[in-house]
Amino acid sequence: MRILGIESSCDETAAAVVEDGRKILSSVINSQIAEHRQYGGVVPEIASRRHTENIIPVVDEALAQANCTLEELDAIAVTAAPGLIGALLVGVNFAKGVSLASGKPLVPVHHIRGHIAANYLAWPELKPPYLCLVASGGHSHIVEVLDYTRFRVIGRTRDDAAGEAFDKAARAMGYPYPGGVEIDKAAKQGNPKAYRLPKPKIDGSPYDFSFSGLKTAVINLLHNAQQKGEQICREDLAASLQATVAETLTERLLRGAEDLGYTTIAVAGGVSANSGLRASLEKACRKKGYSLYLPPLSLCGDNAAMIAAQGYFEYQAGARGDMTLNASPSMPVEASF
Ligand code: KG4
Ligand code: ZN
Repeated sequence: MRILGIESSCDETAAAVVEDGRKILSSVINSQIAEHRQYGGVVPEIASRRHTENIIPVVDEALAQANCTLEELDAIAVTAAPGLIGALLVGVNFAKGVSLASGKPLVPVHHIRGHIAANYLAWPELKPPYLCLVASGGHSHIVEVLDYTRFRVIGRTRDDAAGEAFDKAARAMGYPYPGGVEIDKAAKQGNPKAYRLPKPKIDGSPYDFSFSGLKTAVINLLHNAQQKGEQICREDLAASLQATVAETLTERLLRGAEDLGYTTIAVAGGVSANSGLRASLEKACRKKGYSLYLPPLSLCGDNAAMIAAQGYFEYQAGARGDMTLNASPSMPVEASF
């Protein structure tokens, strides 16, 4: 079964063709990062305009690279939530148009479910149930993947997402947007024990985390140093920040796995590209004898192959969108369209 996936929830216009939820036939990503960088973050209005301009060439390219016509497709899957509403609407309305014109079924996909499904593209043997850490720019959750389309969130951030903490701290440190990858690069040259940063625990919620204090601690450290005329070693601060985020996420995830009896663990979302987090999870899972599934770097960030992959499983479970389908800026990963 061939599914066209369309993704436009943030600053990537992406389209892909995936076979049976597991095999990528094509994956095209048009990133707007360079344009948003000059504003220090994503400007929603610009994102929507660029999606409108890019969506037709990106979809055409995905079909051409897959050597596939619209008629040869079995369904159209589209990210319908969560994300920037104007950006989502471009993908949703385009997908509705393609579905209406071609007569192919429309399948709405939750963006976070898509990130989780990125692992199915890389790891044929991975099947639910397992425990998944989702860490992106907008979300940080620990999710029980009970089945391909059934999820239960057991832990979440109380404030900033992990990627948001990286991006905001990086911005204060003078790195360009998106800062996560800059922190990762700088951390390779730094000492992770140079600065002590807070690792708050949430009373009564052993799998929850909070990252806003961490971001504030980095900002205070920079301000204090500036006032005293002291030098901060950016590489050391980046390494300390990365180690603190990686340790916090690893601790909570492993605690969840142990308490709930999961021995298969996966990671998803943009922050799953972070080398410190990957190393920390690899070490912890090796020690426990758990199987760890990390998406390849090419599938960590936003892409449409993951949407087509999840679209396949949603289709199998009977999910369909019609011409009344709307986009939603927020929606729990447990909820169905
Ligand atoms: O999943 P994603 O591409 O978009 C959202 O759905 O939010 O995640 C983007 C986030 C950004 O905050 C970005 O800084 C972060 O992922 N990120 C990283 C790395 N690569 C991307 N954070 C830390 N280390 C990285 N290597
Ligand atoms: Zn994402």
